[in-house]
Amino acid sequence: LSLCFYLFLCFSTSLPLIMLLRAVQAENVTVLEGGTAQISCRLQNYDGSIVVIQNPRRQTLFFNGTRALKDDRFQMVLFTPRLVRITLTNVSVSDEGGYFCQLYTDDTHHQVATLSVSVPPDTPTVEVELTCLSPRSKPPATLRWIRDRREIPGVVSQQENGKTVSVSSTIRLPVERKDNGAAVSCEASHPALGGQKRVRHYRLDVHFAPTVRIIPPPDILREGDSLSLTCSITGNPLPRDVQWTRINDTLPERAEISGTTLQVSRLSQSHNGTYLCQAQNNYGRAADHYTLLVYDPGAVIETHSAVPYAVIGGVLALLVFTIICVLIITIWCSVRQKGSYLTHEASGLDEHGEVQEAFLNGNEASQGKKEYLL
Ligand SMILES: *[C@@H]1O[C@H](CO)[C@@H](O)[C@H](O)[C@H]1NC(C)=O
Ligand SMILES: *[C@@H]1O[C@H](CO)[C@@H](O)[C@H](O)[C@H]1NC(C)=O
Ligand SMILES: *[C@@H]1O[C@H](CO)[C@@H](O)[C@H](O)[C@H]1NC(C)=O
Ligand SMILES: *[C@@H]1O[C@H](CO)[C@@H](O)[C@H](O)[C@H]1NC(C)=O
Ligand SMILES: *[C@@H]1O[C@H](CO)[C@@H](O)[C@H](O)[C@H]1NC(C)=O
Repeated sequence: LSLCFYLFLCFSTSLPLIMLLRAVQAENVTVLEGGTAQISCRLQNYDGSIVVIQNPRRQTLFFNGTRALKDDRFQMVLFTPRLVRITLTNVSVSDEGGYFCQLYTDDTHHQVATLSVSVPPDTPTVEVELTCLSPRSKPPATLRWIRDRREIPGVVSQQENGKTVSVSSTIRLPVERKDNGAAVSCEASHPALGGQKRVRHYRLDVHFAPTVRIIPPPDILREGDSLSLTCSITGNPLPRDVQWTRINDTLPERAEISGTTLQVSRLSQSHNGTYLCQAQNNYGRAADHYTLLVYDPGAVIETHSAVPYAVIGGVLALLVFTIICVLIITIWCSVRQKGSYLTHEASGLDEHGEVQEAFLNGNEASQGKKEYLL
């Protein structure tokens, strides 16, 4: 503190506020949440005094280039006599506000860079509200919502209707495509029904735009083969039919469409092209494409023979690898044999081993062995 005070005195006396930071807004920054913000301060006539950068809570982040606050997300990336720049990574909304730059000697003038964080929305979800109503019962009925044999807690409200009670239970369900057709039911139970329940079944009908996918034929197609393309579609309502087209061309004469399948018999190279399957319902349309290349039988033999070449290459590589392995093992074994041979040759060592073993086994035996050794 005393040093600071000294510095303060020293600067404020000997260099009285000649090199002010402009007392204006610095550039404002807007970043996406999670992104990296760059906060810059411009210096004028910088004389080497201490530059302090503070966050919106006026905590000092950097004291002339030295980190003061323990937050690794802040980095000083630039410190020149004209420009000081820090970055802040993984920005969150709590980082919003004015970042202050000032000279330590001059707390009346500062620059403020205002950081704004923008949070883009996720894909919205859709919820439906379902209300189950039992208009008349006495005493009030109990309503339960069930989905997949599990109860969904609802918000229950009761209303007296003279002597009887109207009961309702409301739930909110997020719905997605996969929920289409899901079964939910509302059960009413009442003392007068004994263990029985009155149940209303309900099926979710979730409408959505189609999706389309062409299931491609498995093999390389040659002249004379036949082509069968199936278009797999979803959507609610399910599109009634699909449209097959060939981009920049007409469909081949021999093309046959049955349901969602396009068939072309006796292919020729004139059938090359990009085939498109499209489907639509009230909510949108979707398409998928398949590029057909018809090879002439000669070319096909070539493409096929490319596979054996690859296989032969692989086998050769494996053979070479095996030979190398065998060589290595052979060399290793011969070295090892030599080693063990040497060990046997120095048979004294073996006896020595026995002695040690015996020594461990018992004193008397070891005595005998010891004598033998001597
Ligand atoms: C920066 O934002 C502040 C506060 O929102 C505003 O007062 C100021 O005019 C802005 N400055 C610039 C240069 O846009
Ligand atoms: C502050 O940092 C700048 C840039 O590194 C340097 O030139 C200057 O001497 C420093 N000032 C003090 C007082 O340490
Ligand atoms: C970014 O910050 C959020 C909280 O603000 C945290 O949950 C997340 O782990 C951080 N991500 C990285 C990569 O540090
Ligand atoms: C269709 O024709 C257009 C214009 O001639 C061309 O730009 C495009 O690449 C063609 N598309 C295909 C799939 O051949
Ligand atoms: C059809 O595609 C095959 C395979 O790419 C090509 O060899 C042949 O020349 C093409 N034929 C025509 C008429 O475009």
